[in-house]
Amino acid sequence: MKISDAMVAAINDQIKAEFDSAYIYLAMSAYFEDAGLEGMAHWMKKQYKEEVEHAEKFIDYLYERGARVIIPEIAKPKEAYADALEVFKTAYSHEQYVTSRIYKLVDLASSEKDYATLSMLQWFVNEQMEEEDNTGSIVSKLEFLGSDKHGVYTVDRELAAR
Ligand code: FEO
Repeated sequence: MKISDAMVAAINDQIKAEFDSAYIYLAMSAYFEDAGLEGMAHWMKKQYKEEVEHAEKFIDYLYERGARVIIPEIAKPKEAYADALEVFKTAYSHEQYVTSRIYKLVDLASSEKDYATLSMLQWFVNEQMEEEDNTGSIVSKLEFLGSDKHGVYTVDRELAAR
């Protein structure tokens, strides 16, 4: 079964969203490097690489379906944050937004009875659950610590192990 034009366009949009996510996390990594929080910088750099992998998964999928891939322009990410908590809160809500995008792709694939795309998307449904859990639990820790700088450095060391 040939993949529909609508599905190809929606996946191309998602390729852009994944590259935008990569850049958001790369900018967060640069923010943490500048703030001397090297563990958090390392964590965000890994996240950046994961997002590039997500984009590549969608690209390879479109190739497999014989569809045209459009390499997108990447949006300039935000650079300044108040503190580590604001960064991770932004990352957490960004992941919730990405999840809502993935669910819309699932809805489209379901409505078209495109079972191949649905099967590919299942990996992303599971991945989003993990991404929300990871960022959400760091937010909870930082919220609990509040202005405890020593605690924030402990979380920084913990995140260096990713
Ligand atoms: Fe590719 Fe973090 O979602």
